[in-house]
Amino acid sequence: MSYEMILVDRKEPVGLITLNRPEALNALNGKLMDEMTKALRAFEADDEIRAIVITGSEKAFAAGADIKEMQSKGYMDVFKEDFITANWEEATRCRKPIIAAVAGYALGGGCELAMMCDFILAAENAKFGQPEIKLGVIPGAGGTQRLTRFVGKSKAMEMVLTGRMMDAEEAERSGLVSRIVPTDQLVEEALATAGKIAELSMPSVMIAKECVNKAYETTLAEGVMFERRIFHSLFATEDQKEGMSAFAEKRTPEFKHK
Ligand code: HXC
Repeated sequence: MSYEMILVDRKEPVGLITLNRPEALNALNGKLMDEMTKALRAFEADDEIRAIVITGSEKAFAAGADIKEMQSKGYMDVFKEDFITANWEEATRCRKPIIAAVAGYALGGGCELAMMCDFILAAENAKFGQPEIKLGVIPGAGGTQRLTRFVGKSKAMEMVLTGRMMDAEEAERSGLVSRIVPTDQLVEEALATAGKIAELSMPSVMIAKECVNKAYETTLAEGVMFERRIFHSLFATEDQKEGMSAFAEKRTPEFKHK
């Protein structure tokens, strides 16, 4: 498949998607998001790919949804096309783990896309923000909801109401990103991290992801019960036998279901 707005690389067992609209700081237009959806679906269906990395350039992960594309839209346009659900939420539907490797600007829809991934690795130069308020709108791809869950009400509210940016240090301190890596090592580090996940038992990885995500959707008691039942079910897998036997025998496990 050929793409114009993204670069897609199979680095088995990791799939790499690089946003590639440098002239617009990777502003996310409809075509780019269509391509991203196709690429994610292709990786999801690809047995050789077991983890995915989404990244941008050193200057910008993505400076938001494409403002010039949105500028002339009216209410009935955005309502009728249900802007943006059709092609923006594939990352949240993907069952394989997705790491957002963010350098430079992750603003508006760019920050929202990063937050739809399973975790965010930030380069030292990363800057996060929801500046939509300055455009006379508000975040529309989950920013008010996901940022609040990541960083808490006070910081999310300040960011959404003022549009100010957060640097990598602040983002790590407040739980938005898992860790900070040197900018020139970002993609390499994200691929290495994804590669480590890809060596583990795939059913466990996919189920662990479901369980963590469940924490956002349910009560503590229900979430803990969901986790326990799934934990029990993993004892029916060959990989549980292999993982625990390998530990007892002091050897590296060879998981069957990768
Ligand atoms: C369209 C964009 C863009 C965007 C940058 N560009 N961001 N085009 N949509 N979101 C374009 C600029 O118009 C310019 O094109 C080129 O990229 C380089 O940008 P500059 O502004 O010249 O770069 P710089 O001075 O370095 O400033 C970087 C920046 C600034 C601080 C990131 O570009 C900026 O503020 N961008 C907008 C950020 C934003 O408001 N994002 C939220 C969008 S709304 P030309 O042709 O002039 O060279 C949103 C809603 C999501 O995301 C809701 C769900 C869909």
